[in-house]
Amino acid sequence: MKTLKFKNGDELFPIGLGTWKSKPGEVKNAIINALETGYKHIDCAAIYGNEKEIGEAFKEVFSKGDIKREDVWITSKLWNDAHLPQDVEPALQQTLNDLQLDYLDLYLIHWPVAFQPGVPMPESANDYLTPQEAPIHETWNEMIQMKNKGLVKHIGVSNFSKEKLEDLISKTAEVPEMNQVELHPLLQQKELFQYCNHKGIHLTGYSPLGSGDRSEGMKQENEPNMLEKATIKKIASKHNVSPAQVLINWSAQRGTAVIPKSTNPGRIKENLEAAHLQMDQEDLKELAQMDEHYRYVTGKFFEVPEKGYPNIYDE
Ligand code: A2P
Repeated sequence: MKTLKFKNGDELFPIGLGTWKSKPGEVKNAIINALETGYKHIDCAAIYGNEKEIGEAFKEVFSKGDIKREDVWITSKLWNDAHLPQDVEPALQQTLNDLQLDYLDLYLIHWPVAFQPGVPMPESANDYLTPQEAPIHETWNEMIQMKNKGLVKHIGVSNFSKEKLEDLISKTAEVPEMNQVELHPLLQQKELFQYCNHKGIHLTGYSPLGSGDRSEGMKQENEPNMLEKATIKKIASKHNVSPAQVLINWSAQRGTAVIPKSTNPGRIKENLEAAHLQMDQEDLKELAQMDEHYRYVTGKFFEVPEKGYPNIYDE
């Protein structure tokens, strides 16, 4: 399985464990289980509300000594209420404390949207900071400082369109090393994929299985279920693997990282084993034809035109 290579020589194994929606009381065991199963890549974020429990798992596993901190790639994300430059380092320190780590492998700006400091989820337009009040390139410059201080090895962004990447790159000295966005056969984002390849920006795909465990409020009516799609099921049965393994392998063979979430030991193992699947040209052609630019995570919830956020994905 292809690893993602970074300019300093670091390599990232593409299949990681996602922790968005992993419940307190479940996530600690999921992390321990994943690390003991062989996962080398864990994706976290402050807003998921479970970093403290994940930190307990890291401490337990790393203190045993068989699996070392430096053998695991750990990502986390800066929440939208800490975009002002003076708030970046305290937010990162909180994440490091919670995860019981002294550095992250990758730190991402979670969304191209800023909230008032201390507002985890906005309830009205007043809870936002405009792009003029919290310019994203200033947040980014502070991310660069976090890297220079050795608190994080790599820095990147999440949920950035090509337009937002172009704008950021035009205003700052360092190109993001990663953009984490929704990616799967129904949302292949070919233009963004090509642009990021061209700029040397790696991609990580979230919601690779369609995030069926999102709250009902985040779901649209009649959402497609990728795990039940005929093409996915056909390819899965042809190779004697599960539909989830087809979806995960599709991302990884494409050269992107992918972070399926599970707290179930059997599915955690199954998802990592997707690395062994070898799809043929015919499978890949059929999967390529599935693209319908369908987003499970629409981003609409953060669109507030009067605060300067008219269109999260610029489409
Ligand atoms: P669970 O945690 O009980 O395994 P996504 O990664 O797109 O956000 O999707 C996560 C959802 O997919 C969760 O409901 C998770 O449930 C489920 N899931 C994870 N792995 C598999 C799998 N191998 N087969 C079917 N469902 C899975």
